[in-house]
Amino acid sequence: MHTDVVVLAAGKGTRMQSNTAKVLHQLAGKSLIHHVLETARTLKPRKVAVVIGHQGTEVQSALSALDQPAEIVWVEQAEQLGTGHAVKLAKEHLPDDGVTLVLYGDVPLISQTTLEECEQAARLGSVGLVVAEFSDPAQLGRIVRDDQGGITAIVEYKDASDEQRKIQEINSGIIAAPTELMSQWLDRLQSNNAQQEYYLTDIIAMAVQDGVDVVPVVATSEAEVTGINDRVQLAELERMYQQALCSDLMLAGASFADPSRVDIRGKLVVGRDCFIDANVVFEGDVELADDVTIGPGCVITRSRIGAGTKVLPNTIVEGAEVGSDCRLGPFARIRPGSVLDSGVKVGNFVETKKAHLGKNAKASHLSYLGDAQIGSEVNIGAGTVTCNYDGVNKHPTVIGDDAFIGTNSTLVAPLEIEKGAFVAAGSTLTKKVDANQLAVGRSRQRNIDGWSPPHKSRESK
Ligand code: UD1
Ligand code: CA
Repeated sequence: MHTDVVVLAAGKGTRMQSNTAKVLHQLAGKSLIHHVLETARTLKPRKVAVVIGHQGTEVQSALSALDQPAEIVWVEQAEQLGTGHAVKLAKEHLPDDGVTLVLYGDVPLISQTTLEECEQAARLGSVGLVVAEFSDPAQLGRIVRDDQGGITAIVEYKDASDEQRKIQEINSGIIAAPTELMSQWLDRLQSNNAQQEYYLTDIIAMAVQDGVDVVPVVATSEAEVTGINDRVQLAELERMYQQALCSDLMLAGASFADPSRVDIRGKLVVGRDCFIDANVVFEGDVELADDVTIGPGCVITRSRIGAGTKVLPNTIVEGAEVGSDCRLGPFARIRPGSVLDSGVKVGNFVETKKAHLGKNAKASHLSYLGDAQIGSEVNIGAGTVTCNYDGVNKHPTVIGDDAFIGTNSTLVAPLEIEKGAFVAAGSTLTKKVDANQLAVGRSRQRNIDGWSPPHKSRESK
């Protein structure tokens, strides 16, 4: 049986006080609605109807820029007449067989397993409803049950009696039902309530009237069903999410100096005995092998770091393959396309880009190494720069194994320095150096006797 998903995202999000649509605000480096769509996709739905209204084009173009599945159908809800109205509009674009699962663009952390349970209830002909117990249910819809504990209705906070407001079991908003039944109920919705809206939640009482079971699916955590209405809630949910990610990583063998001061905006995989210091940010897919340490203030983006490597404070690593037992930083910048073999040392204020450094190569201080192929055991002296750009094109620098590049060398690419060559400090090189040659690329020093330094003239004193 097919599942079709409806994602509600037409609301204004007034309380965000933002020029950006609420569902486009970021949680852990991804927009709220992107989280929802990613999880929805794990159910392999036939169609995903996204209901947009306020800043709809913005939402549409932000999501179209991502790798979006072809099954997305955009549904415009020009006037927000309620969640029931929104689902009804979406349903006009969905086939009547199968089941419909309704998600909210501002409830980002709903889990696959909870959705699967909800979907399963609908496949068996019932209504699946995701509920949770909240210590502070605030203004959420309340779940009303009868003496036998069966769900009979959802009552919105604004329509609830004082007695009903004491109920702590809340409606997450996430509902699944056989599509044909849901259509019939949506057709019968009325807006004679406190908010003059067509409430999706009213279909619960209709289901009960029609003798259709309402199956509660209890959320596994509060975070899972927390909806975002303002930036305070967004920041709280972000921390809850980060804490949960860190807990998993700690249980997998990593230590954090302080799990409340780390941000994982993507997927972080760790080996055993990694140590992550304070204020580290991970972005995209990052893999740390065993015994890696990441110093404070580092940003590690889409990279793999080999066993035993130490990344010292304030180092930026992006799009790199780092081997084992390397030492990076402090204050190093490893840019995309950098490949560092084992034992490499890249020290302070060294930038690498599309550079391959062979085993045990060292660039300890103040260098730029771009479009460079550097052999093993090479020593790059402080201040060495590969001049890879002529203003139009980029050119390669190739340095053989065991070469020694003296301090403050200017390597004008394209350039080849063969293995074992020695470049004198302060050289500017434009020509190939053969194996084991000494290259001296500087004008000779002259010491001149009897020279008197310039004096300041009276006027300029
Ligand atoms: C809704 C539920 C409430 C539940 C709560 C959970 C209803 C009537 N109430 O209340 O029981 O506890 O969610 O967060 O369903 N939206 C549209 N079009 C509309 C109205 C809303 O797309 O016409 C979207 C909003 O953008 C939002 C979602 O639906 O993503 C929820 O709408 P909102 O107005 O926030 O509903 P709540 O009052 O929070
Ligand atoms: Ca809401």
